[in-house]
Amino acid sequence: MTKALTGVRILDFTHVQSGPTCTQLLAWFGADVIKVERPGVGDITRGQLQDIPKVDSLYFTMLNHNKRSITLDTKNPKGKEVLTELIKKCDVLVENFGPGVLDRMGFPWEKITAINPRMIVASIKGFGPGPYEDCKVYENVAQCTGGAASTTGFPDDVPLVTGAQIGDSGTGLHLALGIVTALYHRTKTGKGQRVTAAMQDGVLNLCRVKLRDQQRLAHGPLTEYSQYGEGIPFGDAVPRAGNDSGGGQPGRILKCKGWETDPNAYIYFITQAPVWEKICDVIGEPGWKTHPDYAKPAARLPRLNEIFGRIEQWTMTKTKFEAMDILNEFDIPCGPILSMKEIAEDQSLRATGTVVEVDHPTRGKYLSIGNPIKLSDSPSDVQRSPLLGEHTDEVLRDVLGFSDHQVAEIHSSGALSPPQKQAAE
Ligand code: COA
Repeated sequence: MTKALTGVRILDFTHVQSGPTCTQLLAWFGADVIKVERPGVGDITRGQLQDIPKVDSLYFTMLNHNKRSITLDTKNPKGKEVLTELIKKCDVLVENFGPGVLDRMGFPWEKITAINPRMIVASIKGFGPGPYEDCKVYENVAQCTGGAASTTGFPDDVPLVTGAQIGDSGTGLHLALGIVTALYHRTKTGKGQRVTAAMQDGVLNLCRVKLRDQQRLAHGPLTEYSQYGEGIPFGDAVPRAGNDSGGGQPGRILKCKGWETDPNAYIYFITQAPVWEKICDVIGEPGWKTHPDYAKPAARLPRLNEIFGRIEQWTMTKTKFEAMDILNEFDIPCGPILSMKEIAEDQSLRATGTVVEVDHPTRGKYLSIGNPIKLSDSPSDVQRSPLLGEHTDEVLRDVLGFSDHQVAEIHSSGALSPPQKQAAE
């Protein structure tokens, strides 16, 4: 079986999290991803949040599997020549530099497409065209400007960001789809094109249910929000809804046995209408099946606090896993709050390759997330991230076809060394 993207070559100028998420996905699917890094420095995350001194951080290794790394100073004249040759040999250039960086490097879209008309240039920026297009952006800026923060948290407290990296990794996912779409289009047109994904747009796309609710507000209160039952009036913008479900089936996070000492002894419980009668039986309230205040979904909406309070009395008598087992028997949708420790130890996630153990020459063994997207006929394995510049000579020789003499010439030009070193020389 061949990997799905075998034969696709990616010139990877990404760094930090958003872009590397995208190119790692493409690499998992078999693309040859050549990561271009600044000599001596590399992707800044190699040295960030280091748990072992002088060893590539988990931040870096977990976002750069299955790639090759070359170092190249693209501001050096010889470096620019090498970059030009790489553009000729690659299918896609991916970057998430700050605004204008690629132009300042001397490689605007017009030049790249002139060098290689089949080249797809894919970019992540913080914002699309408009007042903020020149701004640099990190994860939480995108969460705040994309609508996530104003709708996350509790109504009487400050806006919250979420641990899921929807701005960085979320936009990386969007960009990956844009790239494979452009590659597919190229099979018909023979031409490349530009693909752009703004982090604000990516977050907003993931928050679309909140824009739905914003428009519903014009027609009355949002009756499935807890604050409706609590008699708290709605303002003119969608409020934060705590752990309310966000869909048409009310849900909450409820305490389970051990919650007093275990910060994750909770379960998400959904009072899905089709299984309401089973819920009543499980929690010991058979009378609610026919009582006019509880029998129908609309009657329950103003009473969600009371209903979930009663359900919680039941969940508190079970561990989250016992509750899950019992509720699943009755087809009642629920999910235990799993800690990262529990996920790391989960054998079923290991079995599917979603959590994998990887060996690294300087770090040793560590856990990572494997490809969460499974293709039936195209395998996807996880190979360790490259050391800085590990494949520079290999790429110069095998991809660009340079002779030993040419490789030596490039080395002596300083294009592969940190700029300070050049100055000293
Ligand atoms: N050789 C020579 N120079 C290189 C190089 C190479 N191989 N690779 C990068 N550089 C230079 C660039 O030319 C640029 O120099 P310039 O500013 O003189 O033109 C500089 O390194 C890096 O630029 P930048 O991307 O702006 O890095 P930064 O560390 O200042 O900012 C971000 C980081 C993430 C804020 C910024 O890249 C950004 O806003 N990216 C878009 C949004 C995004 O993806 N954010 C999330 C990241 S997880």
